[in-house]
Amino acid sequence: MSREREAVNSWLIKNASVLGRRNADIAITDGVITAVGEGLDAPEGAEILDASGLVALPGLVDLHTHLREPGREDAETVESGSRAAALGGYTAVCAMANTSPVADTAGVVEQVWRLGRDAGLVDVQPIGAVTVGLAGEQMAELGAMADSAAKVRIFSDDGFCVADPKMMRRALEYVKAFGGVIAQHAEEPRLTGGAQMHEGEYSARLGLAGWPAVAEEAIIARDCLLTGHVDSRLHVCHVSTAGSVEILRWAKSKGWRVTAEVCPHHLLLTDERAATYDPVNKVNPPLRTDADIEALRAGLAEGVIDAVATDHAPHAAEDKECEWAAARPGMLGLQTALSIVVKTMVEPGLLDWDGVAERMSRTPARIAGLEGHGLDPAPGVPANLTLIDPNASWTVVPNELASLSRNTPYSAMTFPATVRATFLRGEATVLDGKATK
Ligand code: DOR
Repeated sequence: MSREREAVNSWLIKNASVLGRRNADIAITDGVITAVGEGLDAPEGAEILDASGLVALPGLVDLHTHLREPGREDAETVESGSRAAALGGYTAVCAMANTSPVADTAGVVEQVWRLGRDAGLVDVQPIGAVTVGLAGEQMAELGAMADSAAKVRIFSDDGFCVADPKMMRRALEYVKAFGGVIAQHAEEPRLTGGAQMHEGEYSARLGLAGWPAVAEEAIIARDCLLTGHVDSRLHVCHVSTAGSVEILRWAKSKGWRVTAEVCPHHLLLTDERAATYDPVNKVNPPLRTDADIEALRAGLAEGVIDAVATDHAPHAAEDKECEWAAARPGMLGLQTALSIVVKTMVEPGLLDWDGVAERMSRTPARIAGLEGHGLDPAPGVPANLTLIDPNASWTVVPNELASLSRNTPYSAMTFPATVRATFLRGEATVLDGKATK
């Protein structure tokens, strides 16, 4: 079967729903879509895939993935994370810089980029660190990373905030030279030292130190002002509070070039989960309240929040199966993101499938500047596609996920929508819901 698949360079995907058109066929040859329409003839030697009842979307693009390589290959590798991504419907992921060593040089970003290319399951676009070692003190070699084979355009100290306003200003100014963007992990560290969860009713009840919403909101407001001041580009990572949505709405009304992402877990789960004391629910920024969820969903529907990003954060068992205070923050996200967006946004009528394409593919591809991704199926477009069964459901079994780690908070939960196939430049990376390599 795999021998045959390697030889397949033409496909005819039949009877899919493509951007509101029912029963559309998609013909692919040599990695490129050659035709979209009803009753197409199969290209010569094409494999035919019956997509009746399936929705075809441009391949999903994740702006925020932790792949852990180099350094923590026990938790995830570029290859295992890429496989999880393909299974989740993704054709491109942006790999965060908080590896070991940190991706703060051309050498490390090129290494990650090459590993992604060798795995060949999704396009892996490295994100470069803003400061050396994520330490916040000295600016990293942003220009060298931008000029490298990895062509870095997004820079982030994610995991840490670029807390020094002068450093943030300089970085925002610097990336203008090559059309870059600073992706900020918005957390004022002087308000969150020792914090374990959202500051609110549950933190008081559980006796865990709180991470107040204002620690996020103060940095977002500051950075929007700085971005407007120097006329650069800011992307706000994992927005988690209602107040942040208000600030972003205000910043956008000024015409400043600010974009933002929300994570699936912040659209679904609340701080009540901390009452389990199960560290699988510990994440940074923390799970917040029902009111925050409502504002985040509305903000995403409205476009104040531009994109959904996973913050896929695999952690080895010893970093998660321990007491809450000692556990690292973060949860798996790549294979559950689409289903959670369907559950929280599509089912309640806040987004339709075109909206899903916008928030999970077109817009993130545009923010990351990824050529060939986030494009609607049309002749001449690279065949980066995902086929989704909107009527199927599935139950999360941690051991069955492709990640090397098991830290999913969704164990035993049942979600709508499954990914049936994913194509990266015409090559099937997922078929029948299974990875092809
Ligand atoms: O929960 C998180 N985990 N938030 C971050 O900002 C970093 C991430 C990680 O690297 O594990």
